[in-house]
Amino acid sequence: MNKVLVIDDEPGIRSVLSDILMDEKYTVFTAGDGYEGLALLEKEEAGLVILDVWLPNMGGIDVLKQIKEKAPAVPVVMISGHANIDLAVKAVKLGAFDFLEKPLSLDKIITIVRNAFEMEQLRKENLYLRNSMLQQDEIIGQSEAIAKVKALIEQSARTDSRVLITGPNGTGKELIAREIHRKSRRAAGPFVEVNCAAIPESLIESELFGHEKGSFTGAVSRRKGKFELAHRGTLFLDEVADMSLGTQAKVLRVIQELKFERVGGEDSLTVDVRIIAATNKNIRDQIQAGKFREDLFFRLNVIPIQAPSLAGRISDIPLLCDYFMLKFKPAGEASARTICAGGMNLLCAHPWPGNVRELKNFVERVNIMTDEQSISAETVKYYLDEVGGSGGGGDGLGEYGAMSLAEAKEAFEKNFIEKKLKAFDYNISKTAEAVGMYPSNLHGKIRRYGIRTER
Ligand SMILES: Nc1ncnc2c1ncn2[C@@H]1O[C@H](COP(=O)(O)OP(=O)(O)OP(=O)(O)O)[C@@H](O)[C@H]1O
Ligand SMILES: [Mg+2]
Repeated sequence: MNKVLVIDDEPGIRSVLSDILMDEKYTVFTAGDGYEGLALLEKEEAGLVILDVWLPNMGGIDVLKQIKEKAPAVPVVMISGHANIDLAVKAVKLGAFDFLEKPLSLDKIITIVRNAFEMEQLRKENLYLRNSMLQQDEIIGQSEAIAKVKALIEQSARTDSRVLITGPNGTGKELIAREIHRKSRRAAGPFVEVNCAAIPESLIESELFGHEKGSFTGAVSRRKGKFELAHRGTLFLDEVADMSLGTQAKVLRVIQELKFERVGGEDSLTVDVRIIAATNKNIRDQIQAGKFREDLFFRLNVIPIQAPSLAGRISDIPLLCDYFMLKFKPAGEASARTICAGGMNLLCAHPWPGNVRELKNFVERVNIMTDEQSISAETVKYYLDEVGGSGGGGDGLGEYGAMSLAEAKEAFEKNFIEKKLKAFDYNISKTAEAVGMYPSNLHGKIRRYGIRTER
């Protein structure tokens, strides 16, 4: 991360800057114009650009704009003479880090370059902390099945290969995807999630690839798609089997060519994105039924990971219980609660159709609804039954019984957010923190579901 790219048409400036920076142990690349510079930036992945405002062919401001599009995290320091100081100021407004005025001062160059690298380092640490603070669960379990998953996570984190995670509801597919990202060399980059089942068919292309202003009714401004937002990071295609065949064809093309166009756009964009996909459907059945492209399956399924059902690894149930008990420990209590032996037997015999999510919810519920320090077998039975037996058409699914998975998820999500908002007195940031979402995502959901946000 100490590579500097100098773009200036004057050979004298290029060599002065190279000498100074090389003395400071930076690796320096130089280019005489914007085109050459942009190509080098991509090839060498420079961590900082020093860019002349005045350049032949493509002006410095245009080069800056392209850098901000292609590598938004790379700080750019502009060089300007007296005559074009206004341009340099404009550049700072467009996202340049700072500017150097000619004649160049040695001290100033060194300080600015050092500051720019430090800034970028802080930004990355910040992002990393924020990602890890998002109350992500650890992957708990010592069963053979989970040990296998953990080993696959380690292996795939070391590569850029595509991963396909399969498994029933609530088995931790998303958790696994996030863990791979966190352990990979892309950890400082974005983790971008797309729920292919929750996005209406008519919008999914714009969601994935972005759109140009005016490309369809409602496209009031240019918008970046998830592929672009995930540049230098990981794109998580959740519920990938719910993608339409049309969208599958487009995603396949992006995977093959690593380039795409925004909806309504002409230019091809290139991105550096690692793809992790997940589904709870049996993809081979979907292929048989003609609903999923086999070629796309092969592309996605480079490293297959199967998230094991909870009922198939009951030795992990006590560990998971302890972990969640600590997580949901009521604020005033000194130690986490425990489950008595009889209660644990019941938990181990339960079929867990909702897997770890169901167990997590169960533990949260007993912490809220009871005040037993050691949870009795009766209490366990009561709260397990309550999930299974709550009204509805006898299948235990209640109001969700007649819905598709996508509909049920949305209905649940809307209901859940409404209740949580109410519980936190419609304070968005507190609610977001409590449910483990970014406030901006919560806002998005509120808008999407048209949820009331006032008392
Ligand atoms: N092994 C585990 N250890 C700790 N927590 C876990 C584990 N597996 C899952 N969880 C937790 O259970 C919940 C459900 O997990 P997650 O959302 O990753 O499941 P999923 O497989 O993506 O479910 P779905 O198919 O419904 O989308 C999350 O809160 C997650 O943190
Ligand atoms: Mg999921």
